[in-house]
Formats: sequence, C-alpha cells, structure tokens
Amino acid sequence: MTPILAIEDLRKVFITRSRTVHALSGVSISLDPGETLGIIGESGSGKSTLGRIAVGLDEPTSGQLSVGGERIDGLSPQLRRQKLRRCQMIFQDPYSSLNPRLTVGRQIGEGLYASGQSDWREIRTTVADLLERVGLKRDFAERYPHEFSGGQRQRIAIARAVAPDPQIVVADEPVSALDVSIQAQILDLMAEIRRERRLSYLFISHDMAVVARLCDRIAVMHRGRIVESGPVRSIIDTPQHPYTRNLLDAVPRFGRRRTGGKPAPVRLPEHRDDDVYVTVGDGHIVLEPGSAAMLDLPVGNLP
Ligand SMILES: Nc1ncnc2c1ncn2[C@@H]1O[C@H](COP(=O)(O)OP(=O)(O)OP(=O)(O)O)[C@@H](O)[C@H]1O
Ligand SMILES: [Mg+2]
Repeated sequence: MTPILAIEDLRKVFITRSRTVHALSGVSISLDPGETLGIIGESGSGKSTLGRIAVGLDEPTSGQLSVGGERIDGLSPQLRRQKLRRCQMIFQDPYSSLNPRLTVGRQIGEGLYASGQSDWREIRTTVADLLERVGLKRDFAERYPHEFSGGQRQRIAIARAVAPDPQIVVADEPVSALDVSIQAQILDLMAEIRRERRLSYLFISHDMAVVARLCDRIAVMHRGRIVESGPVRSIIDTPQHPYTRNLLDAVPRFGRRRTGGKPAPVRLPEHRDDDVYVTVGDGHIVLEPGSAAMLDLPVGNLP
C-alpha cells in the first residue's frame, strides 16, 4: 500500500540570535490511508514542528516529504500549498486558531470555497451539514467563536478541518485543553469521522492514555528523534526504549509502578545520527544507542 504520507530523514534546525535548536534530527514516519499514528513525547521533543511541516506551515531544513506517493519537497511554495490542501490541521487551542471576527459558518465555508466549491448557497448547506455532523446546531453557523464552550469550539475546528475534504488531518494536542469528560467525546467524534471519511490522522499528544485510545500505531519522540515506534499494543506491552518505559510508567494503568514500588532513576541514551533502528516485533522498531553517552535524568522528570 502506498502511504498517504511519507516523511524521510526530516531535519529542522532553528537558528535564533541566542541559540541553535535541532528540533528534528532525522525523523522518518509513514502513514497509511485510514491509519492513526500517535506522536508522543515530552515538551520540546519536536512534535509540533513535525506536524507543522507535515501540513506545510513550516519548511524543513532537509528531508523528503511525499503525499499520496508524490514528492512535494522541492516544489514551489505555491504548488506545495496546493498539494498540501489534502492535509489539514487541528490545534490545541481552538480559540486562538479560530478567527474571532468571522462567523463560524464563514470560517468553515472558506475551506469549502478554497477546495473548489463556488456556489455560496451550496456552501451554506454543506456547512450546516458539517455542523450537524460534529454534534452542533445547523444555525450555529451565524455565531462567533466566543459564543461557544471549549468543547464546542473544538467541534467547530474539526468541522473546519474536514470541510476541504482532506485525506490527512494533523491534530496537535486537540484535547489537552479540555475537561476529561469532554476529551472522551471529542476523541470518539474524531474516531467516527475518521471511519466515515477514511481519514488518516497524525495525532500529537503528550498523554499516553489519550494516544492509546485513538491510535493504531505510536511513534515516541525524544529530543528531535523517534526513539521507538510500533503498534499501540506492542509499545504498551513490550516497550523497549528506556524513554518509552518512562512515559508508560507515568500512566498508572500502563506503568510498572502499579504495584507501588519506588521509581528508579532513569538513564537515557543520548542518541547520535549514526544510531540505527532494530526490529523488535512486527512493525515495532527501537533506536539502539551505538556508543552513546548516557544521560542521567532526575527521578520524576516525566512529561
Ligand atoms: N519558531 C521557532 N524558533 C526557534 N525555536 C523553535 C521554534 N519552534 C520550535 N522551536 C524549538 O524547537 C524545539 C521543538 O519544539 P516543538 O514545539 O516542536 O516541541 P513540542 O514537542 O511540540 O513541545 P510541546 O509539547 O511543548 O508542544 C523546542 O526546543 C523549541 O523551543
Ligand atoms: Mg507542541
């Protein structure tokens, strides 16, 4: 099967006046049609940078990017944007990602317009259908973002993301700002919409429990590298990388601390570019430290 999204050896270096940040140091992922890949890792590990590059909001320093088997790195920015219309994004905070001055209907409608629909009467009907589909009232199209709750706004953001009929949706911490009870509803809605539209999701989160609920596969990021990836069950049941174990231990239902033992200090390898992945199970790979130096992390340094 041709992956809907394939990213190879992606690197991103941010150079600011005060420092140079290697946000991504050779990240490769692939996403099959209809699949949800969870990207998990602590703050600063490069998750959002990866997501933003995948939808064309940011430029990689180097690396290859293919959508539907077609290379899009190297295309002109205009052509790339056109191709990347197949990739849409949902952000953590829908309040800042929605325009406060435009009605909800207008914002959802713009995506339809951009994807080629030009009859505003038809667009209005589709917008109302979409609002209904995400569990809101059809006439909410006339309202402004501030008139809604956080959960409702995230529903609007989902409607807006799927309006241009994308194949890939990158969701960057879409439920982190919501109450736990609302989180479950939004995750269920995202799962239903994925099935109906045969969407693929790149689902970014720092929360292992949330990722386990929605995703088929998980890629664990640490300091700009994917240190382990594989099917959700395999990662949860047989985590190999010390960093993955560390993440799982933070979730009582997955961790080895269920029995209440004292957490051990965590030692993590500091990976280098020449470290290689080894296969440890069906589709399950882990980055092996070569002659890596070990980083000592203080106990309790969990995301
Ligand atoms: N525009 C930028 N300019 C300079 N540095 C940046 C920029 N964007 C990100 N970075 C740096 O790149 C690294 C990765 O950032 P990124 O936002 O991708 O992490 P993240 O995994 O999404 O973290 P979080 O969980 O906090 O959202 C961080 O060190 C960050 O400070
Ligand atoms: Mg982020």
